[in-house]
Amino acid sequence: MLNFNFQLPTRILFGRDRISELGKEVRKYGNRVLLVYGGGSIKKTGLYDRVIESLNSNGISYVELSGVQPNPRITSVREGVKLCRDNQVELVLAVGGGSVIDCAKIIAAGVNYEGDPWDFFIHNARITGALPIGTVLTLAATGSEMNANAVISNEDTGQKLDISSRHLYPRFSILDPTLTFTVPPLQTAAGTADIMSHVFEQYFSPTPGGFIVDRMAEAMLKTCIHYAPIAIAEPNDYEARANLMWTGTVALNGLLSTGRETDWGVHEIEHVISALYDVTHGVGLAILTPHWMRHILSARTAPKLADYARRVWDIVGDDDMVVASLGIEKTAAFFRSLGLAANLREVGVEESRLEEMADQVTANRQPLGAFGQLNRSDVLAILRAAY
Ligand code: NZQ
Ligand code: ZN
Repeated sequence: MLNFNFQLPTRILFGRDRISELGKEVRKYGNRVLLVYGGGSIKKTGLYDRVIESLNSNGISYVELSGVQPNPRITSVREGVKLCRDNQVELVLAVGGGSVIDCAKIIAAGVNYEGDPWDFFIHNARITGALPIGTVLTLAATGSEMNANAVISNEDTGQKLDISSRHLYPRFSILDPTLTFTVPPLQTAAGTADIMSHVFEQYFSPTPGGFIVDRMAEAMLKTCIHYAPIAIAEPNDYEARANLMWTGTVALNGLLSTGRETDWGVHEIEHVISALYDVTHGVGLAILTPHWMRHILSARTAPKLADYARRVWDIVGDDDMVVASLGIEKTAAFFRSLGLAANLREVGVEESRLEEMADQVTANRQPLGAFGQLNRSDVLAILRAAY
């Protein structure tokens, strides 16, 4: 295990009906809010009315930024920053999934910066502060509700870039599993693939040791494998939704990367795909992950991949290469069983652009990843296999 610092400033309010505490929580930070939400699911589900009621009954005024898209755009961020400035907003409240939360985070940071918020992503400026951020999570997937990251797309440049800053931690997040009952099957599946991918990116580490973190990671993977099919078949199953929700949060709040180097190669490849084709993040990850695993399987990586196969999929056998391969096939079959696409063609990617994608992914850094160590030719081989 390597040395590490670990600190989580986000207060989690988990469980049924915690939304009634929203107004009280917001008031700790002020009484003028920017309410950020997506394409309207919160209006259809009635959550919008509950949020407004809680704000109103606590004397909190609000302005709204609606229509934040999946793979959120920098244009929405700019709009939000202007709304905050024009209305002296004191807290940015995200009600939605990872896209809405990420957008809210960069709005909050953008208010403190005179220039264009895209500067943060291209390293022209550092985030030095942000308005307080609060979230009401409606989809189990990204972990953004308890982490310091945000991912934003720029349509003009065709880029989707991520950033991390301690100023981006939400002050509080309300996690009511019943708010995810309405998440459609495909989004439930994509969210699960995203959660599992977050675990993989940290579990498949070149750092030796870390027994405790590995066992936690395996528990999270098993939780996803057990509960995702239940949540898809029975969308109102509270235990299934609650377990997926909490797993999504703890899978990417920093806990699993304590004491180790992490990979993130698959995420970097996926971000280029969802920047160019607006593919759902979790769908892209589900397609790529088994191909990444197959590509990096070697005498060096086989013991860990076999460990995964034995402990998560209960595969028995002495030959690490064989056991690892069986675990990889189980992973691919599981994603397909959730109804996720199996190749890039199915999600509209053009074969003629694979080279360009490999260039983009490796433009700033080679090799990519830590466990996997991918050069441009490796990335291209994975994209071709996934096509
Ligand atoms: O826009 P609305 O109408 O709200 O509908 C959304 C959207 O269409 C819908 N939805 C959300 N909650 C719902 C619901 N529909 C019915 N009932 C509900 N309760 O689901 C769709 C997808 O929402 P989105 O927020 O895009 O999904 P997700 O949470 O998967 O977020 C994906 C984004 O987060 C980024 C991804 O790259 C992508 O841009 N990521 C953020 C990370 C982070 N901040 O740490 C890490 C991740 O690796 C990831 O990159
Ligand atoms: Zn992800």
